[in-house]
Amino acid sequence: MGVAVASAPGKVILFGEHFVVKGKRSLVAAIGLRVRAHLRPSGQGIRVRSPALGMDSWIDPASLEPGDPRLAPLARLLRFLRDEYGYSIVGHEAVIESMLPVGAGLGSSASTAVAYALAYTALHGDPLEGERLIRASYEAEREAHGNPSGVDNTIAVVGGGLVYSRTGGFRRVVIRVPRGHSFLIIDTGVPRRTRDVVERVLARAEATWPAARHVYEAADAIIDLALEAFERGDAGLLGELMDLNQGLLSAVGASSLVIEEAVHTARRHGALGAKLTGAGWGGAVIALVPKERVPGVVGALEERGYRVYRVDLGVEGARLEEA
Ligand code: PMV
Repeated sequence: MGVAVASAPGKVILFGEHFVVKGKRSLVAAIGLRVRAHLRPSGQGIRVRSPALGMDSWIDPASLEPGDPRLAPLARLLRFLRDEYGYSIVGHEAVIESMLPVGAGLGSSASTAVAYALAYTALHGDPLEGERLIRASYEAEREAHGNPSGVDNTIAVVGGGLVYSRTGGFRRVVIRVPRGHSFLIIDTGVPRRTRDVVERVLARAEATWPAARHVYEAADAIIDLALEAFERGDAGLLGELMDLNQGLLSAVGASSLVIEEAVHTARRHGALGAKLTGAGWGGAVIALVPKERVPGVVGALEERGYRVYRVDLGVEGARLEEA
């Protein structure tokens, strides 16, 4: 049993967050910020280190009890691999390296679970693939988030792009950054709980449904236009759609001052469009920017204290890496 290294991408919701909760479609893409799991067999039990979280802890190999609550999702994943798929529990030291900001809605928990599950099963010489990797990593996501849609761990496995709805499930689509443009992810650094925002947004939607339903319909119609715009590489239309979607998200109560400041700063310095991504209130904003204007937009945002990442979209899903 040698060393095993696997990686999985984070994700960004391009369009449709919140509206997806009431059955509309969302469009999600894998991003070029990855989580890597390095696993090395060890006779000393199960040790997991994550420099990004400042965590160095243990999972008991017999009981699979985590020594740190942040390891509960991985402990549940190991239990699933043992009980459902028949993998033995072996001592190992895992190091989790993440390029993703935590708690910004970019799917870091899902990417971690996917990379870890792939590396752990590769240690056994039998790496999980496809549906089986999706199922196993969903167990970790349930531990982390209660009853998640499964979109984060699915995209971390398959990569590329997905159209998702509660009734229609997942459909794979091709997402490419339009030539001559960049997508920026802007981390507001403001933490929020997805559940709180979702509750508040649903309360407004329900109180105003005869009016609000039109907002939900409008958001759903954006998905078809966005897919066409991606297919044609039409950055101008994508920018318009991002701004339109941001307006709808603001209408249903998902925006906030810190998000609006990031959105307006990006637009003022040349972004073609910008919107919150994920739950809102804090978390992350995405912007589409012509390449020559990227330095100006990034500079203006960093000056206001935002952390900015330039990301590729539609990247490869989970994969084994050279050890
Ligand atoms: O910030 P995230 O990745 O947890 O995204 C939340 C997306 C919502 O549509 C607001 C909630 C959901 O369950 O789909």
